[in-house]
Amino acid sequence: MIDLRSDNVSGVAPQILAAISSANPGTALGYGADDFTARLRTRLSEVFEHELEVFPVVSGTAANALSLAAVTRAWGAVYCHQSAHVHNTECGATEFFTGGAKLLPLDGEQFKIGLPQLETALAEAGFGLPQRAQPCALSLTQATDFGTVYRPEEVAALAAAAHRRGLAVHMDGARLANSLAAVQCMPSEMTWRAGVDVLSLGATKNGTMNADAIVTFKPDIAAELRFRCRRGGHVPSKMRFLSAQLIAYLEDSLWLRLAARANHAASVIAAGLKDVPGLELVAPVDVNEIFLRGADEIFAQAEQRGLLFYRRPRRMVRLVTSFQTSEADARACVEALRSSSSGGPA
Ligand SMILES: Cc1ncc(COP(=O)(O)O)c(C=O)c1O
Repeated sequence: MIDLRSDNVSGVAPQILAAISSANPGTALGYGADDFTARLRTRLSEVFEHELEVFPVVSGTAANALSLAAVTRAWGAVYCHQSAHVHNTECGATEFFTGGAKLLPLDGEQFKIGLPQLETALAEAGFGLPQRAQPCALSLTQATDFGTVYRPEEVAALAAAAHRRGLAVHMDGARLANSLAAVQCMPSEMTWRAGVDVLSLGATKNGTMNADAIVTFKPDIAAELRFRCRRGGHVPSKMRFLSAQLIAYLEDSLWLRLAARANHAASVIAAGLKDVPGLELVAPVDVNEIFLRGADEIFAQAEQRGLLFYRRPRRMVRLVTSFQTSEADARACVEALRSSSSGGPA
């Protein structure tokens, strides 16, 4: 069986599991007043080359909703892509934590928000009109929900347009490490240097057990988050175990090495499927997600051959590799789909 249903079907990276054990002996103050969390802040500042504040949380959904709540009024609006996780897959968490702000979905090429679409939306937003929700933030998903990556210059152009109208810029970095590994740029270039104000770091899909984090480069956003995280029930009392995971995640570029492994497995699959009749890639495979369109019978046969993936509407499926997906797994996945497309016995 090859399980490509998601990257969070993977286990925990051994270095991170070991870090949890190492944080166990002795005592430490709760709620982030521990040495691990202080060290995490220092380490992240080095990695991102900027002063910052970090708020460890237990999920990407919490990181997104709290980040956006910190920069959006109850009568505000957040621009995001129409396929964005914040819009479709978080049960209205952003609306809940903001006290009712509106998410305004936009479109663009390759499942990224297009600059013309954002500029038109901003021009028609009705700033100052009490009958209209007031745009407060732009949320970019990196990588996108279809596995495509915004290049730093694309982030910068979108962020500049948002900043010109006074919006804050949030990045849902659920697959930030995969994007950095793909583009081969510095974390700073993809984030604050390109105009990102607040970031959901993203870590669980790439090797932690239950640790994600909000990172902000802006002291005023940090001041807001201090209260919002507490009030929202997202200040884990034994925070040191989350911080220890995230320190290990960053150590010796582990996060980038794990992500590169996942990306490599996906690229092997994408290359192997290029000439398979009856299967079409829905989007370029920039990171570790592969979206295919094809006949239901092909996918049903591949499932019988032991390949696990998620079905999507309109004859589409999603396969996601993780740091645990080996090259052999990737090749076996190609073989299962290839044999299924030629209709041989399963
Ligand atoms: C793009 C994106 N953002 C955010 C999340 C939310 O992360 P979590 O499941 O940790 O809440 C996911 C998870 O699937 C995701 O794919």
